[in-house]
Amino acid sequence: MLKVGLIGCGFMGTMHANCWKALSDRAEVVAVADVRPEKAEELAALFGAKIYSDGKDLIENEKLDVIDICLPTYLHEKYAVMAMKADANVFVEKPMCRTKEEAQNLVKVQKETGKLLQVGQVIRFWDEYVWLKKVIDEGKYGKLTSATFKRMSPRPTWGWENWLHVPEKSGGMALDLHVHDIDYIRYILGEPKKIQVVGNEHADGLNEYIMSTYIYDDNVIATAEGAWNFPENFRFSMSFCVRFEKATVCHDSGIGEFVVYLENGEKEVPVIEKQFEGSAGSGNISSLGGYYNELRYFTDLIADPTLPQIASVTEGARSVELALDGIAMAKGNK
Ligand SMILES: NC(=O)c1ccc[n+]([C@@H]2O[C@H](COP(=O)([O-])OP(=O)(O)OC[C@H]3O[C@@H](n4cnc5c(N)ncnc54)[C@H](O)[C@@H]3O)[C@@H](O)[C@H]2O)c1
Repeated sequence: MLKVGLIGCGFMGTMHANCWKALSDRAEVVAVADVRPEKAEELAALFGAKIYSDGKDLIENEKLDVIDICLPTYLHEKYAVMAMKADANVFVEKPMCRTKEEAQNLVKVQKETGKLLQVGQVIRFWDEYVWLKKVIDEGKYGKLTSATFKRMSPRPTWGWENWLHVPEKSGGMALDLHVHDIDYIRYILGEPKKIQVVGNEHADGLNEYIMSTYIYDDNVIATAEGAWNFPENFRFSMSFCVRFEKATVCHDSGIGEFVVYLENGEKEVPVIEKQFEGSAGSGNISSLGGYYNELRYFTDLIADPTLPQIASVTEGARSVELALDGIAMAKGNK
């Protein structure tokens, strides 16, 4: 049984706690930490876990197999470094960290300590996106010619001390939200030959809308569009539409669409076996599925280090770089 320490008991910490609960046959949350006592108490009650008022105390006082970091982005690197040096395997939410320097340091410390670090690039584990990668790799519908990914959200208001709207803490929409899609594009298509980015900012200077175009050989083009300036009553949606030689595949979480448009004029709905369905119950996320899948895979990796690392420290670092470069390009200073 893996002993888990959960640091950060806010929005994502709660999501992870529910996933750890569903993984209770292989892992047990024995300690939780949050600077807000009521948040820590709420999650500790789910497991009968020990409570700490800061992540540092949890790391220094517990001997753990896993430390799960669900802190605001600007704290990821500091705590992930402490956790790896304390001999724990680390799961850290996306984006892996706030700056390129922090990303490089995490790569270095991971290498030095040899501990496992998995980044919460959850789209790599999201059922519809897992299915899409499989059909691309297998060439089921021929060659991919173009792809569009979108992620649209109202302004996130739930963060502790409003950290998502402080530039030094979150990096803005592109690092927080858009990173999901640019990370996934690189996962399915590799390093682009050329990148073009446009975007705009809120009055506070934070990126809040972005459109990235990743260009590949043979004129294969993938675009990703992200926004968190939609009205408060807009339902969060993530979607893709991918054109292949022999079919077009579209998914839209907002309207519940998942369809393959075939060249003969017929349509089919892909059958995917969801590993786990559970309600997230809050925020802009409707299902626990991808979060459960990624944490389950993390425990698989601990048990069998020969399995491929799907969201490694180097992948997380590259996605942070791409998001930050995109923000700079959108500002027009690159
Ligand atoms: N994968 C996804 O789909 C997804 C979705 C939302 C957020 N996230 C990421 O998850 C991370 C957390 O975001 P969130 O929305 O849960 O934020 P949040 O503000 O809801 O939660 C952060 C928690 O950390 C606590 N905290 C702050 N400093 C602490 C410390 N030193 N020790 C212990 N606890 C401390 C806060 O009190 C708060 O409860 C961010 O990096 C965010 O980008 C990922």
